[in-house]
Parts: sequence; C-alpha cells; structure tokens
Amino acid sequence: MVAGVVGRPVAHSLSPILHNAWLAGAGIDGVYVPFTPDARGFRRLAEGLRGGAIRGLNVTLPFKPDALAVADHASEIARRAAAANLLVFDTDGRIYADNTDGVGLLRAFEVQAPQWDAGAGPVAVLGAGGAARGAVAALLLAGAPKVWVVNRTLKSAEALAAALGPKVVPLPLAHAAGAFRDASAVINATSAGLGGGPGLDVPLELTRRTAVVMDMVYKPLETPFLAQARALDRPTVDGLAMLIGQAEPSFEAFFGQPPPGEVDVRRLALEALGQ
Ligand code: ATR
Repeated sequence: MVAGVVGRPVAHSLSPILHNAWLAGAGIDGVYVPFTPDARGFRRLAEGLRGGAIRGLNVTLPFKPDALAVADHASEIARRAAAANLLVFDTDGRIYADNTDGVGLLRAFEVQAPQWDAGAGPVAVLGAGGAARGAVAALLLAGAPKVWVVNRTLKSAEALAAALGPKVVPLPLAHAAGAFRDASAVINATSAGLGGGPGLDVPLELTRRTAVVMDMVYKPLETPFLAQARALDRPTVDGLAMLIGQAEPSFEAFFGQPPPGEVDVRRLALEALGQ
C-alpha cells in the first residue's frame, strides 16, 4: 500500500517521517513517499493516479486549492476551507478531497490545552490566507460563536468574512486589541515568524490570562509569538501538535486504521527538526 505527500518544495515535509513510523509500528506493508511536480504537473499526477494505484495523497503548499479542484467529491470542510490537504483515490476511479487541517487544529488544542472549549467564546485568528481560512472554517464547525479575522490587509479579512458568514468579523492588524480583550484563543495563521523571521507585533498582554495562544508555524517550534505568550504565562499550543493532528485522520483514510498510539511521532519530528 502506497500513499504520499505532494508539495513544492516537499523535501522539508515531516509527513513521510510520521506516516512511515506509524506504518512500521502497525506492521502494515506500506510506504509513504514525497512527490514534487511542477506547477502544471499537479493535475497530471492526480489524474494519473485515478483508479487506486496508490491509496491517497496529502497535499501541501502550493497545491491545496488545486487538490480541491481535481476532486470529484469534496467534504464540507474542504469546500468551506476552499482547499484540500487530503486526496483519496477510490478503485472506481473517483477522487475524494478532504481537509484534515481543521481537525488537526482542534486536536492540537485537545492535546495541549484540554481546558479550552471552542464554543465558550470568540476566537481571534491572525491572517487571512489559505491557512487562516481553513482555521476559521474549522472553528465555526466546532461551534465558535464568533471568529475575529485580524489581518494586515483588511480587504483580505473582509473577503474571508464574506465567504464564511456573519459570525466572522474582519479587523485590521493595527486594531488587534479589539479582538484580544474577549478572545478565548488567539491563533497565528500568518506566515510571520516562519523560518526564524521576525514575529508579529501584537499586544498579547491585553488577552485574558486564560486565553490560549496558538501558532501554526512549527519551524521554529517556539516562534517569537509563542515565546511572547509564554513570557505572559498564557497557555500555548504549537504547530507541531497541529501537524500531527492532521496526519492522524489522513493515515486512517489511507490505511483503514488509526495510527498506533505507542509510536512517539512527536519525538521523531522534534529530532528531525533538530530540537
Ligand atoms: P497561507 O496560504 O499559508 O495562509 P498566504 O495566503 O500567503 O499564506 O497568507 C499569508 C498571511 O500571512 C496573510 O494573511 C498575510 O497578510 P497580508 O494579507 O496582509 O499579506 C500574513 N502575513 C505574512 N507576513 C506577515 C507579517 N510580517 N505581518 C503581518 N502579517 C503577515
């Protein structure tokens, strides 16, 4: 049984490490491999895999919107996120698209901030790109009463709110304080802080003491944003927990069983990240 991940670049992806460790742990005769087609090659690759030559693909940047477009059937969350991170190739020739990033986000909170309740209050999401849209869609489905979308470019936040409905409220980054005061969680879905770049300049000190602060970036694992939250003694959730959280349902979709719990994939991922 073969599954894989498709992205460009893909060499840095931790997904092969997670899935291959789970395959070995479960004693499944399978392998999980990376693919990196060029911009136009994605569709050819996906079309060529129709019929179930391989079980499925995880999809990462920049192909998530293309993955949704190539599918014959898409889950509600993938449609709302306007992106898919998971394609399953049925033996009848059909391609199914799903998005497990939202599940991953919620599982990360369950693991690292189990006291948090999605329905308990408004959530602030920083950013209005593809990652933010997936997070907002998942938070709404999980029962969040209101989601602030706080973005440097207000227009993009407004477009996201228009696409996802009246519970989504756009706000410029310069007015983040307005969202922080009543947020039960603040989630960084911008690319700021990625690869060791400078973090966001936002007034996290205005959040409630119980507000959970999460960063989707996991390289570095401790972003400037999470470091600021820890210095303020806020509970935190990291991007690696989300990565593992999206991989678990993907594994089950590919191989028909949940990943074996006894394999410590977080430790393997931390090793690969050099932490
Ligand atoms: P992705 O698909 O990963 O979400 P994206 O669509 O390029 O990536 O979106 C990146 C997001 O990070 C955007 O919301 C961007 O803000 P703008 O819409 O104003 O461009 C945000 N972003 C990136 N770098 C940032 C920075 N240094 N400060 C604030 N926001 C930043």
